[in-house]
Amino acid sequence: MSRQAANIIAAQIITKPDCVLGLATGSTPIGTYKRLIEMYQAGDLDFSEVKTANLDEYRGLPRDNDQSYYYFMNQHLFQSVNIHLENTNIPNGTEPDAEKECSRYDKVVKDLGGVDLQLLGLGHNGHIGFNEPSDHFVKGTQCVDLQESTIEANKRFFEDISMVPRQAYTMGIGTIMSAKKILLIVNGEGKADILAKTICGPITPKVPASILQMHPDVTIVADEAALSKMPK
Ligand code: GLP
Repeated sequence: MSRQAANIIAAQIITKPDCVLGLATGSTPIGTYKRLIEMYQAGDLDFSEVKTANLDEYRGLPRDNDQSYYYFMNQHLFQSVNIHLENTNIPNGTEPDAEKECSRYDKVVKDLGGVDLQLLGLGHNGHIGFNEPSDHFVKGTQCVDLQESTIEANKRFFEDISMVPRQAYTMGIGTIMSAKKILLIVNGEGKADILAKTICGPITPKVPASILQMHPDVTIVADEAALSKMPK
């Protein structure tokens, strides 16, 4: 999965060196980033003109917190390739004024000219970015209350469940859907049910990722375990 996904991202960078990549965090893309670093080290990829916009960030975590997505991106990709940090963008988790941060980040993405290729992981509850199941789809950047199941799923990265932030800033579904291309990566049996619902179920904000059925250019790269519940 990671190698296939990295090849698709590499193709994007090679065909448009100054592309805008939408990037994701979580455990799923770690192998993809590792492979991209290997390609860079082999001299096959140049990130010097690449611009990035990350999907989300925990609200309240400073950049130097090792669980912030800012820290994650530096550790798993940015510090190991020749990307210019001023060309990377992540919501600011320490901005207390949610309205201000959401409109700032919407402007960041708009000023970049939109996203060429958006990488996505899939939450166990069908979230993309941190757009949690809801009764409606939200267009722009929003401040969300994380669901208990998300806090539970992400507690493995924290010392204690009480340390998992309760809120996050996330790119909205409308912004994700406005990316020219989307690459969804999914692995493991634990995601099999939600992947089947995402691809074959009804399009509903209760499964936020199901909206991807409406996007004209989505590639899904998944392992066999994640595809094991697909209808025959
Ligand atoms: C996280 C992130 C998502 C990610 C998802 C799955 O909380 N906000 O962007 O895709 O949940 O995470 P993992 O890849 O660790 O299963």
